[in-house]
Amino acid sequence: MKKHNFSAGPCVLPKSVIEKASEALINFDDGLSLIEISHRSKPFVDVMEKARALALELLGLEGKGYKALFLQGGASTQFLMVALNLLEKRAGYLNTGTWSKKAIKEAQIFDDIYEVASSESAGYNYIPKGYDIPEEYDYFHCTSNNTIFGTQMKHFPESPIPMVCDMSSDIFSRQLDFSKFDLIYAGAQKNMGPAGTTLVVVK
Ligand SMILES: Cc1ncc(COP(=O)(O)O)c(C=O)c1O
Repeated sequence: MKKHNFSAGPCVLPKSVIEKASEALINFDDGLSLIEISHRSKPFVDVMEKARALALELLGLEGKGYKALFLQGGASTQFLMVALNLLEKRAGYLNTGTWSKKAIKEAQIFDDIYEVASSESAGYNYIPKGYDIPEEYDYFHCTSNNTIFGTQMKHFPESPIPMVCDMSSDIFSRQLDFSKFDLIYAGAQKNMGPAGTTLVVVK
């Protein structure tokens, strides 16, 4: 019987992927496991480089000046890291759900965050439209898919400032012009693989 997992994460991986990963845990390089060889050795670095290149290729961003990083700490750590790295004066956030709100809360450690628009008072049952993004701000942050409320951004604004997007629950599920974004982050456990890494794609 084929079993389905409808939870938001961890996602189900193809059996062939699990099999290949299990083989690499037993014998990846001359009798040694992938998790036993040096993380600086060529065989391991090659695996990482291939993963980075494939992530960019799937997003159509290869050769466009982007880097793909695999980082620890889940998408939630990026709520803070985005502000730590990009926030100098003020940032604009689109408040569309629980995860946007958490991102806003972390950025508020550094400054009063400006909500360009919010659907909170309506129980987050829609994605706001027709808002302005102040061009003097450092960046604009949005959440492409609101996992808990089931709302998804179908259109992204033409942002006059760098656009940052939390794509944790819909990355790789649809074709978009990803070059509109200056920074994309996504915890792996929903659409990419097992929990434990976060993809950060940055220009
Ligand atoms: C849109 C979105 N952002 C962030 C998170 C938090 O991810 P993590 O558990 O990797 O910190 C989730 C988790 O459900 C999510 O759905």
